Amino acid sequence: MAADSPATSIVPGAASTTACEPPAVTVLVCRSCRWRDIPAEGVRPGSRLLDAVTKAAENTGITVQGVSCLANCRRGVSVAMLRDGGWSYLFGELDEESAGDIIAGAELFATSADPFMPFRGRPEALKRGLIARIPTFDHLKDLP
Ligand code: FES
Repeated sequence: MAADSPATSIVPGAASTTACEPPAVTVLVCRSCRWRDIPAEGVRPGSRLLDAVTKAAENTGITVQGVSCLANCRRGVSVAMLRDGGWSYLFGELDEESAGDIIAGAELFATSADPFMPFRGRPEALKRGLIARIPTFDHLKDLP
């Protein structure tokens, strides 16, 4: 396995979507993140968040996958969310305590009627920690 290839994945079957199911959401957690200005620890905060999010996602249909870096190191711990047909989101400044909020946000995103994660009802950690949202190629034509 390549050094930067994902190694953690759960919730088999979450990747497929039928007309009766909401679009699949994948949560990418940077397992390499550590706190800025704090010396390296044995287990990185990103790895601890990955474990907590993986546990919080059990039986939700949300896929969780660890990645090595999301290029948001200065504002980590970082998480990205991807949804079929939806915009992509990058969040930062998260910690283990954010795991429930991350999965609640992923479920909100999965059931959204449009390609966005609604702001109303979005958990506080994902309001405060929003770094970027990125349109799909299909949505570029709709931008001003
Ligand atoms: S190490 Fe986590 S975003 Fe770079």
